[in-house]
Amino acid sequence: MKTHVVYRPKLASRREFPESTLLVYDQDLLKISKSFKRWAGTFSAQLPLSAGEKTKSLERFPEIIKKVLKKTEIFSSREMTILVVGGGTLTDLGGFLASVLKRGVRLILVPTTWLAAMDSAHGGKNGLNFSGYKNQIGTFYFPERIEIIKEILFCQPPTRAREAYGELVKMSLISKSKLFSDLQKHHKIDNKKIFSSLPLAIEAKYKVVQQDPFESKKLRHVLNLGHTFAHAMEKCFKISHGDAVFYGVAFSLVWSRWKKVISEREFDVIIEATFWRQSFRSESYARLLSAPVSEVKKSLFQDKKRSSRGYLLEPFVQARGQVVLKNITTDEFLAEFQRQKKLLQKVTYASKN
Ligand SMILES: NC(=O)c1ccc[n+]([C@@H]2O[C@H](COP(=O)([O-])OP(=O)(O)OC[C@H]3O[C@@H](n4cnc5c(N)ncnc54)[C@H](O)[C@@H]3O)[C@@H](O)[C@H]2O)c1
Repeated sequence: MKTHVVYRPKLASRREFPESTLLVYDQDLLKISKSFKRWAGTFSAQLPLSAGEKTKSLERFPEIIKKVLKKTEIFSSREMTILVVGGGTLTDLGGFLASVLKRGVRLILVPTTWLAAMDSAHGGKNGLNFSGYKNQIGTFYFPERIEIIKEILFCQPPTRAREAYGELVKMSLISKSKLFSDLQKHHKIDNKKIFSSLPLAIEAKYKVVQQDPFESKKLRHVLNLGHTFAHAMEKCFKISHGDAVFYGVAFSLVWSRWKKVISEREFDVIIEATFWRQSFRSESYARLLSAPVSEVKKSLFQDKKRSSRGYLLEPFVQARGQVVLKNITTDEFLAEFQRQKKLLQKVTYASKN
């Protein structure tokens, strides 16, 4: 399960990759980066694909595998490498492809979005959608190398940095590293800040993954902190995944205090952090809590963390660097959703009068 994470300012030269390499990449990168276009041209076997949930689906897979087999027919299957350059949808697809092609070939990932660079490329999980349901088909398959390329990541628009912030804040609470204090120091979030936080966030993810690489002990569920709320909000509103996770972590923190999982003192320390300022009482949070309960309920029933007995394994914050898992029912989640809605209405009413 050893994956090497390499940081580079620019894409590595063709020589750094095995001879029999198939380059699978997000075709939009050709328009986004001239140097990517030049670099991609140095690979004789390549498969451009459009990014997105439709591409990473079992329905599209037969057509993709047909192209892959044609483009790699001269390669020896023992030595074949799939090199994926793209965001989370393509690293998921490429990871699955490498795991099943000829019963498994070498895999190298070059994540090009913040989400992929900090989260989805790491940890060996991949997934294809099926019949409109996300990540229903997948394997655990660890890439041998992941390359974090500054030049490509910096092609993303500034709004993406703000969206990536939610996952970073989550990692800062899960890990015992100095990520939390680092994030506190910065008032402005930009590509530079997100890039400099990557090593600590990635290290934090590997610490969790190493304890439970195949999710058999359920320990990896701590990485889902804030995600039950986030997934429900993504279904109800037009909101980025990162923003939804940011408020999802806020929701989990307030719930952790209500359940006395976290001490008042530790809760106060955490919410005094720069990045939380105003978020708990913000209009954005109030808007999310105005989601119809029936829609939230629907999302909880679709949640893949739900066990056959109807419980959700929900992460709660005990302290910075300590997240614990508790079985909760969907009714408990909905009751907390409504409690926080009322709480926020009261606070907003009090501050207006
Ligand atoms: N396997 C895991 O552990 C895991 C974890 C979290 C999320 N995921 C998956 O990740 C996927 C989402 O990933 P994503 O947000 O990266 O989506 P994505 O791959 O669709 O990329 C989002 C957009 O960014 C564009 N893009 C890519 N690189 C760019 C760059 N350098 N500059 C500018 N634009 C660029 C793409 O063309 C696309 O339009 C979901 O399918 C989710 O299920 C997987």
